Amino acid sequence: MLSSQWLVVFKWPFVGFCCFVLLTETSGASQSNDPVDARLVEGGSRCSGRLEMKYEGTWKTLTFKVTGSTSATKIKIAQVACRQMGCGSAISITHNVNHVNQRPAWEIEMMCDGTERTLRECRDTNSRRRVGRTFETESSQEVICSDSVRFGNGNSVCSGSLNVKSDNGWAPVCEEGFDSEAQKVVCKEFGCGPPTVSKDSSTPEGVPALLKKFQCKGNEARLQDCASSTHKCKQAPAITCQGSYDVRLVGGETCEGILEGKLEGEWRPLAGSLALWKAEHFNNVCEKLGCGSVLSTLKHNRYGRVWELSCWESHTNSSFCKTWMPQFSHKSMTVTCAENVRLVGGLDRCSGKLEIKSGPSWASVCQQSFTTENAQVTCAELGCGFLYSYHSKHYSNAEQATSLVFKCRGKEKHLLDCPTDTRSAMEEDCGEYRTEINCRERGEEPHMDIHTLDQDFGYRSEVVKGQRFAISCSTGSLYKPFSMRLRYEVDSDQAVEWIQPTVGKTAMFFFPAAEDAHQGYYNCDYNYEFKPDFFSKQQLLYVTVTERHDVRLVDGHSRCAGRLEVEHQKKWSSVSYQHSWSLKEAAIVCRQLSCGAAVSTSKVDNSPEVLSAWRFYSDCDGSERALMECGVVKKWSSSSTIEVVCTDILHKPNITIISGPSFTNSEGGQMISMGHSITINCSMEPQYPGGHFSVKINSLNQTHSLTQPAVNHSAVFTFTVTEGNYSCVYHNFLFNHNFSSESLSLLMNITDYIGVMLDDEDSSPCSGKLLVDVQGGLKLLSAESIVWDLKHASVVCRQLGCGSAVSTNNVTLPTKEKMARFYSDCDGSESALLDCGTTVEWFSSSYVQVNCTGQQGAPSMK
Ligand SMILES: *[C@@H]1O[C@H](CO)[C@@H](O)[C@H](O)[C@H]1NC(C)=O
Ligand SMILES: *[C@@H]1O[C@H](CO)[C@@H](O)[C@H](O)[C@H]1NC(C)=O
Ligand SMILES: *[C@@H]1O[C@H](CO)[C@@H](O)[C@H](O)[C@H]1NC(C)=O
Ligand SMILES: *[C@@H]1O[C@H](CO)[C@@H](O)[C@H](O)[C@H]1NC(C)=O
Ligand SMILES: *[C@@H]1O[C@H](CO)[C@@H](O)[C@H](O)[C@H]1NC(C)=O
Ligand SMILES: *[C@@H]1O[C@H](CO)[C@@H](O)[C@H](O)[C@H]1NC(C)=O
Ligand SMILES: *[C@@H]1O[C@H](CO)[C@@H](O)[C@H](O)[C@H]1NC(C)=O
Ligand SMILES: *[C@@H]1O[C@H](CO)[C@@H](O)[C@H](O)[C@H]1NC(C)=O
Ligand SMILES: *[C@@H]1O[C@H](CO)[C@@H](O)[C@H](O)[C@H]1NC(C)=O
Ligand SMILES: *[C@@H]1O[C@H](CO)[C@@H](O)[C@H](O)[C@H]1NC(C)=O
Repeated sequence: MLSSQWLVVFKWPFVGFCCFVLLTETSGASQSNDPVDARLVEGGSRCSGRLEMKYEGTWKTLTFKVTGSTSATKIKIAQVACRQMGCGSAISITHNVNHVNQRPAWEIEMMCDGTERTLRECRDTNSRRRVGRTFETESSQEVICSDSVRFGNGNSVCSGSLNVKSDNGWAPVCEEGFDSEAQKVVCKEFGCGPPTVSKDSSTPEGVPALLKKFQCKGNEARLQDCASSTHKCKQAPAITCQGSYDVRLVGGETCEGILEGKLEGEWRPLAGSLALWKAEHFNNVCEKLGCGSVLSTLKHNRYGRVWELSCWESHTNSSFCKTWMPQFSHKSMTVTCAENVRLVGGLDRCSGKLEIKSGPSWASVCQQSFTTENAQVTCAELGCGFLYSYHSKHYSNAEQATSLVFKCRGKEKHLLDCPTDTRSAMEEDCGEYRTEINCRERGEEPHMDIHTLDQDFGYRSEVVKGQRFAISCSTGSLYKPFSMRLRYEVDSDQAVEWIQPTVGKTAMFFFPAAEDAHQGYYNCDYNYEFKPDFFSKQQLLYVTVTERHDVRLVDGHSRCAGRLEVEHQKKWSSVSYQHSWSLKEAAIVCRQLSCGAAVSTSKVDNSPEVLSAWRFYSDCDGSERALMECGVVKKWSSSSTIEVVCTDILHKPNITIISGPSFTNSEGGQMISMGHSITINCSMEPQYPGGHFSVKINSLNQTHSLTQPAVNHSAVFTFTVTEGNYSCVYHNFLFNHNFSSESLSLLMNITDYIGVMLDDEDSSPCSGKLLVDVQGGLKLLSAESIVWDLKHASVVCRQLGCGSAVSTNNVTLPTKEKMARFYSDCDGSESALLDCGTTVEWFSSSYVQVNCTGQQGAPSMK
């Protein structure tokens, strides 16, 4: 099911409304998990008959593997079945052999002990079920339960006066309380349709008696579930539930065969007082099957189970007699339906020469005075959709043409329902020309076009961002389409939909400004007034949204400043400075080029040189997205040009850490060891000479900055790092304005990880194995580091607050492992080892130990 919602999106001055509908598909019908998986059928009551079980969604007769099953074990099965169906206790179970036909069955070897609530709870003695569809049997189990509710008189399936089981046998129910809710429950319990309101349901004669009175809410599954009490009351009248019937014709051609009906899921031939059936009944059957009207019926004898129809009243407008009863009968009926209109000799049943039933044979139709409406009704009657064309065709040996002249209005259901004239004597002979009709299941796909203001883009299904555009759908269909539908496929299961009435045979869908979201597939179809929910074939169009590239700024060392050029008719030229040009227009240029706002615009005089240029004519208010959306250009000769300067003329500078012990943590932040200095390089791509850089430091509490002139488009800053966000800002004075541009910011996070550690098993913090940082992790310092000496060890001792170095020595290991090799540029006075040296990974089997003088104090923080 499609649920749709209408929203008015915008209004357009020259065509009405455009609307969209959001389609959401809610699929996935929930499969109700029917707890009832056993039933008794064909016994005239819910509580007696052939035992069936449902497995894998299919009801089939149940048979038991009889080996070893005694009547005592079988009655226990019946007991469970009766209990499961709320039918009291089991009276009998008999093995029945049906000599007429075999039927699909479930064969189960089961063992019940009689106390189970459902048959499924019984033990499956062999856990081997013959569940194949091929398994057919003549045998079945007929179960009779003590029952609890049934229809009396007539024992019909879906009507009668209700009886319930009481202590003294079957008894009617109280009229009081037996209202429409109670009837609803009963009809549902019997598997019939809802109760019908019958006028002649007079209360039966009789003296009040002690009867059961029910009080139902209407949602109970069974009458026994309703509240009940015993009262002295009058008995309730008979009720009639609608049968849940269905019909089909079997054993012949599509529209011919034995008439069968379905009740409670079971198909049987329909039999009985068929003499009471009228032609309308059969016509209804044929029509329901899409087979036209009834041609003939044939009664024949064929013994078997049937649904016997009791057509006591003449139900002139109901398809079938209301009361169906299970019976054995030897009567059934073959029904042959026939269309009385057909198309022959064409590609399929929906095209060809038109013929109508004329007594027992068929007659063709003259083309003279045959109308579009006639042809339209014919196509619809044949279930062939829409008329595509009709014409006359020559047949050298055409049969007799009908003398009828049809005058359909177009909405009749059948051609023969249309008013007719009889052909006058003069027109009688239409020679050998006959009417041919071609119907189409659906209307042919419409034609789609894209319309823009700019002729250049016509038919390219390409629109420029910000541009107005329209999509038109038009059809060459014979009839006027009622409405056109345009859909934009957002993704495979979502679409935006617009519906527009047609003007003539066309509809226009307008879009005020193309956006990226407009790019994609559009499809269009249409419907007719006489069948509004049936749409034609779809036409598909892909719309590309392109950026506008018809404006640029040149010779300003930036794409955001310089001389204005406009492309028109595939030619780039400068624009001459004229009266209409102002900062307002310049602002549009800057916006279109994504260059921010306009800073200035000025006239540049190049005289005496005169150049070919564009003269710009403006109708802009300054808020437009593109210059050519609100202006036009024409060829001009001029010595003046326009300069436009936008705010974003500068590139973004780069910020890079060129030295200092920094580690990139998992969140992308830079971790800086406490107390270290760091060197940052601010750089710019060469764009304008001069200028200066500043480093902006945004720490939790304050903002401050350091400034240096730009040398060769870069500047280097060295400072002791504090926690905060760092960015480089480039400043320059250009085009008589101060411009600046800021880099991305770098988050510096301070860590007490200093990249150096002495590790000693005796937990003396100022002596032990030396570990240094290599690629973000601490590793032993390899003694193969040639430069390593006491001078370096003293830097370590100082850094760790352990005084000065006493000794450093080698320790040899039996195997090589991953360590750090040290590279130095230290003079020994540094406060941190990694400020003057660096490390690389190194496989080594000896490491360095360091012994400092002091006990560990606070490491240096400066
Ligand atoms: C049957 O006929 C009755 C009275 O003529 C009418 O009220 C009812 O709607 C009809 N039912 C159908 C299904 O046509
Ligand atoms: C900064 O360091 C603190 C503490 O070490 C940590 O919780 C935080 O996630 C870090 N932030 C970033 C962006 O690295
Ligand atoms: C800074 O970066 C620029 C551009 O990458 C480079 O040319 C320059 O040499 C760097 N300066 C230093 C000191 O690394
Ligand atoms: C800025 O950094 C990017 C990425 O690291 C690099 O590709 C570019 O060359 C750098 N530019 C300058 C001027 O250093
Ligand atoms: C930030 O300011 C608050 C009070 O204004 C102060 O208590 C705190 O120490 C400051 N933090 C830093 C990192 O300077
Ligand atoms: C700037 O770069 C040029 C060439 O790239 C070089 O000759 C010059 O020495 C540099 N100036 C400075 C101050 O680094
Ligand atoms: C750095 O910037 C981020 C976002 O811009 C902010 O959440 C964070 O608090 C800043 N850190 C400091 C230390 O200013
Ligand atoms: C540009 O900035 C400099 C210093 O930052 C200032 O002295 C000067 O007045 C500014 N010029 C203009 C036009 O704003
Ligand atoms: C440490 O060992 C290496 C070789 O493993 C040797 O070259 C170096 O001289 C030794 N250093 C000391 C201080 O013993
Ligand atoms: C470190 O020096 C102390 C005395 O200054 C000495 O007792 C100790 O043995 C030395 N340790 C090492 C590993 O050299």
